Amino acid sequence: MAERAAIVTGASSGIGLAVSRMLAESGHGVTMAARRPEKLETAYEQLRGEGLDVQRIAADVGDEADVARVVAAHRDAYGRLDVLMNNAGVGIGAPIGELDTKRMDIQLATNLRALPLFYREALPLLRAAADEHRNALVVNTASIAGKRGQAWLSIYSATKAGVIGFTQSMNRELAGLGIRSTALCPGFVDTPMTDFVKEQVPPEAMIQTSDIVAAVRMLLTLSPGCVVPEIVFERPDV
Ligand SMILES: NC(=O)c1ccc[n+]([C@@H]2O[C@H](COP(=O)([O-])OP(=O)(O)OC[C@H]3O[C@@H](n4cnc5c(N)ncnc54)[C@H](OP(=O)(O)O)[C@@H]3O)[C@@H](O)[C@H]2O)c1
Repeated sequence: MAERAAIVTGASSGIGLAVSRMLAESGHGVTMAARRPEKLETAYEQLRGEGLDVQRIAADVGDEADVARVVAAHRDAYGRLDVLMNNAGVGIGAPIGELDTKRMDIQLATNLRALPLFYREALPLLRAAADEHRNALVVNTASIAGKRGQAWLSIYSATKAGVIGFTQSMNRELAGLGIRSTALCPGFVDTPMTDFVKEQVPPEAMIQTSDIVAAVRMLLTLSPGCVVPEIVFERPDV
């Protein structure tokens, strides 16, 4: 049985896959959750092939029952939760006059509504970890778009601003109990999500998933008296 355990959503690619690997390499049993089963399976097989202790649960984080299912499957497999990374996210661009309600709701549900659902469902496990070592960690992937609203990405920007605000509230409620939360606010990261812009911004000029991994690794080393509400990652030319 792993001595530490983590749930990572959006774990099938990009930031979530990179952080899942780091957490597993550093001794966590990791539940990898993401939407599309085949893509998740490929990521899971990759980490299993590296000898890492991971399981995978295909789930839509916008679905309340799926959120509960992920947490229950994690509890059954590992029996504890030291790190929760709410990372699944989706950005669908549109000028406000052409806003599609369904696409708006997908972004609200995936990027924002999923967070309170995961905190609620995972709270007993997080509290048990905090009672043990005062160092339970929740990492919420926001975006630079949550710090500065972006044109044509208004709903995405609003959800990410919501993630930052919600993270602040969680620290007010839970940090004193030993459950600390951090919102990550990166600009363009070289992941599949930024494929659409790679002709204008070359991938090597973007923030790397290794930078996000380094930040999460740093958060894991902090003492219980230190809260980091957010980390902003900017590129040199912005
Ligand atoms: N890349 C950037 O420049 C950048 C910058 C700032 C913030 N972010 C944020 O970073 C996070 C990770 O994105 P990424 O760049 O690593 O992109 P990515 O490679 O496209 O990964 C997104 C992950 O989220 C999952 N996902 C999407 N909708 C989901 C849902 N409803 N339920 C469960 N899983 C879902 C995806 O699974 P499926 O593919 O199966 O849907 C995938 O595993 C997102 O929250 C994103 O908003 C990214």
